[in-house]
Amino acid sequence: SETFEKEVVIIGTGYGGSVAALRLTEKNIPVTLLEMGLNWEKSGKKFSPMINPGHSAAWLKTKTIAPFMNLFRLDKFTGALDRLDFEHIKIWLGRGVGGGSLVNGGMAVTPKKEYFKEIFPNLDTEKFYSHYFPLANKELKTNVASEDFLKDCDFYKFNRVGEEEAKKAGFKTVRVPNVYDFRYMEKEYRNEVPRSALAGEVIYGNNHGKNSLDKTYLKKAAATGNLEILELHQVNHITQNPDKSYALDISVINTNGQEIQHKIINARKLILSAGTMGSLELLLKSNSVTQLPVDQHIGKEWGNNGNFMTGRNWVKAFSGGTGSKQSTIPVGGIDHWEDKKHPFFVEIAPLPMGMNVATSLYLLVNKLKKFGEVTYDLTDQKLQLNWDESHTSHMKDNAKYFLRTMNNANGGTRAHLLFKNGFGADICYHPLGGIVLGKATDQFGRLNGHQNLYVIDGSLIPGTIGVNPFVTITAIAEYCMEHLIKEDFS
Ligand code: FDA
Repeated sequence: SETFEKEVVIIGTGYGGSVAALRLTEKNIPVTLLEMGLNWEKSGKKFSPMINPGHSAAWLKTKTIAPFMNLFRLDKFTGALDRLDFEHIKIWLGRGVGGGSLVNGGMAVTPKKEYFKEIFPNLDTEKFYSHYFPLANKELKTNVASEDFLKDCDFYKFNRVGEEEAKKAGFKTVRVPNVYDFRYMEKEYRNEVPRSALAGEVIYGNNHGKNSLDKTYLKKAAATGNLEILELHQVNHITQNPDKSYALDISVINTNGQEIQHKIINARKLILSAGTMGSLELLLKSNSVTQLPVDQHIGKEWGNNGNFMTGRNWVKAFSGGTGSKQSTIPVGGIDHWEDKKHPFFVEIAPLPMGMNVATSLYLLVNKLKKFGEVTYDLTDQKLQLNWDESHTSHMKDNAKYFLRTMNNANGGTRAHLLFKNGFGADICYHPLGGIVLGKATDQFGRLNGHQNLYVIDGSLIPGTIGVNPFVTITAIAEYCMEHLIKEDFS
């Protein structure tokens, strides 16, 4: 294997890694970004729609891995969506240049100020709400759909039904911002441009419309001329060198997942932005394999952000249902967060199956009552997650209460057709924590016990943030990088 020397290396091209890359490169600091997935934009390959899964549908699997209806066989390919299966929970992740932004629903939600303060008592809340959150939303290109469009568009019938039924049941509904360009969607609707959200594209990637990170932060970083992106570079483990730099053991893979080259990259400074599960795996595995020192806090305070999926069948079954045409981009939420007994936030999710299934799908975001813990099993060479039904039982109570209230007011039944017993307790899109800011790191993401090692991603957030997390991950990354650049990188 060949050895290369680099000054600053970032592992992972999701929200944390993209913010770090832009803030460093715009200060004329050369950065190497390592990403195990494909550079989809550069490859010229197309993302596939949900009803016709192709190359982008799954990371090196022979069958699709969507939350339901996995009837499709696949050729093994370095696709954009991955799933980690643990005994009681399945965790979905994005792979490729742009990380989770390639496959997510684009919901760009700023958390409630009070809850943010509760989760991060040591951060300057005022500064976050006056500066870092607005900055994150501006760079991410967050926008809101026009009410006129939502009122008439047949692709948003599922949302109108969802909001109407929620109101009838006494719940408060809210409009949810997104990074999908709604002006583009209006043009899609009028058939002026190629369709994406209105053509069933999302979880296997959007070919148009969505402002994923490759169109925002990473594009700006590349324009500085200081950014090098190395795709299909999978970091296996990290060794601390005697001079306090880091040696990365890397497999360069082809699109079938086979190693075609083995590399060592020495990095003077290393930023881990491999996502909650990726950064945890790199640290814990390296600790086992190369004795990389890790602090006792690593792996603690992990959570699923209270994710709990559920749904209702027989929704308006005799009056048109939820619609056969559905946009893949959610726009509505139910805010029940202030309730003392059943606090939760609900995302009114689409179910674009190409036919009217009279079914409403909901992703609940609950509080956490108990943290999970992540460890590494050297024999199995796999992450272990201490997480079971005791962690989700209060979320199930909330889901039961929510469905009961909705069904009493509107009719309908628990969605047995979608999930076992109608509850998807094991579906997680928002893994957070394990390398918590101010605990496993200092207050700016410097890893305890290290001089040149940083963590900037979702793992900094202790398990819960009350809403979809990428705006918060972006804002925290902005905050950390502002300080780190001044103190460590100039
Ligand atoms: P992220 O996971 O984005 O990026 C990490 C990157 O590191 C990946 O590209 C990965 O391939 C790479 N990597 C990992 N290990 C590596 C290694 N060893 N070597 C090289 N590269 C490596 N959030 C939200 O706010 N609104 C929403 O609507 C949604 N919807 C949603 C839907 C679905 C289906 C999913 C899967 C997720 C969401 N999310 C979401 C969650 C959101 O996408 C997620 O929280 C962020 O992407 C996390 O950002 P990070 O920067 O932490 O890592």
